Amino acid sequence: MTTLKIAATGADGIGPEVIEAGLEVLDALAIRDGGFDLNVTRFDWGSDYYRTHGVMMPEDGLAQLKPFDAIYFGAVGAPDVPDHITLWGLRLPICQGFDQYANVRPTRILPGIEAPLRGKGPGDLDWVIVRENSEGEYAGHGGRAHRGLPEEVATETAIFTRVGVTRAMRYAFALARSRPRKMLTVVTKSNAQRHGMVMWDEIAAEVAGEFPDVTWDKMLVDAMTVRMTLQPESLDTIVATNLHADILSDLAGALAGSLGVAPTANIDPERRFQSMFEPIHGSAFDITGKGIANPVASFWTACQMLEHLGHPDAATRLMKAIEAACAAGVTTLDVGGSASTREVTDAVINAIRGSNS
Ligand code: IPM
Ligand code: MG
Repeated sequence: MTTLKIAATGADGIGPEVIEAGLEVLDALAIRDGGFDLNVTRFDWGSDYYRTHGVMMPEDGLAQLKPFDAIYFGAVGAPDVPDHITLWGLRLPICQGFDQYANVRPTRILPGIEAPLRGKGPGDLDWVIVRENSEGEYAGHGGRAHRGLPEEVATETAIFTRVGVTRAMRYAFALARSRPRKMLTVVTKSNAQRHGMVMWDEIAAEVAGEFPDVTWDKMLVDAMTVRMTLQPESLDTIVATNLHADILSDLAGALAGSLGVAPTANIDPERRFQSMFEPIHGSAFDITGKGIANPVASFWTACQMLEHLGHPDAATRLMKAIEAACAAGVTTLDVGGSASTREVTDAVINAIRGSNS
């Protein structure tokens, strides 16, 4: 039996609600599976912590996270704290500090969830987006001068390194190879952005040579939104820059029914550091505390966490339990249902307990 040491950081808004629901589900899974147990430590970092301490997490935050096998993260963002502070104070320092360079975002239309695409259902949309997660438009490079004067200027420089692009590309090709259709679409904007994006295209062609069994193609990001919407079944694995994939993954979530079901894994494929698992959705202050947040994204990312930590059978069991609850119509408001977070959690736990494979 292995003990999985999990650092749980619910952080802001509905984050703590969906993370607590996820931990309950993981507990039920540990009991049912028998192959692992959980040792969870909760960290109260986030905007409340910021209001008291002036920082989103302590200065030695990363060192405190170091002993854990994985980080299970909720959401950041608060109405009274600027977004760039919540983001750069907690989530990005973890992603970048632990060099979690592959951000993996699976999207499917789950059974029982109505997707907005006319005539499309489960099976028509089954994608994994790989988001370069360590540099690009999120490199934090740039600055401001002449503040407050009419000639004020701000720069926001995207950084693309050969190492950074190559490793994200290799990860994406390898992931595509591991999926049945072995297909990868590389997304850039190399018509308008003629430096970094052209290098992306070149590196894609180079890395493709290492994966002759993967069929790949290229799309410009604007045209990609059209293809995702009109021909979802023509896509499988997708790789894009930090910002492009950020935007495309919101579209993907919406096309699959709701951002409330969309998970994400921030992975260090080399396992020098632990990885971080979170729902894609934000803190959703409008529904915080109402008990109606959709916990499916945090359950699905728990599947990603279990897979990463070497428990694929438990991950599959959890995914089946999520699908069973959705198929039975136990869904929250955002996907057209009326169930509470509690009811969805209970339905998934019952499905885990009743599962026999
Ligand atoms: C995401 C989110 C974040 C991002 C926000 C919270 C800054 O939208 O994980 O996609 O843009 O990276
Ligand atoms: Mg986003």
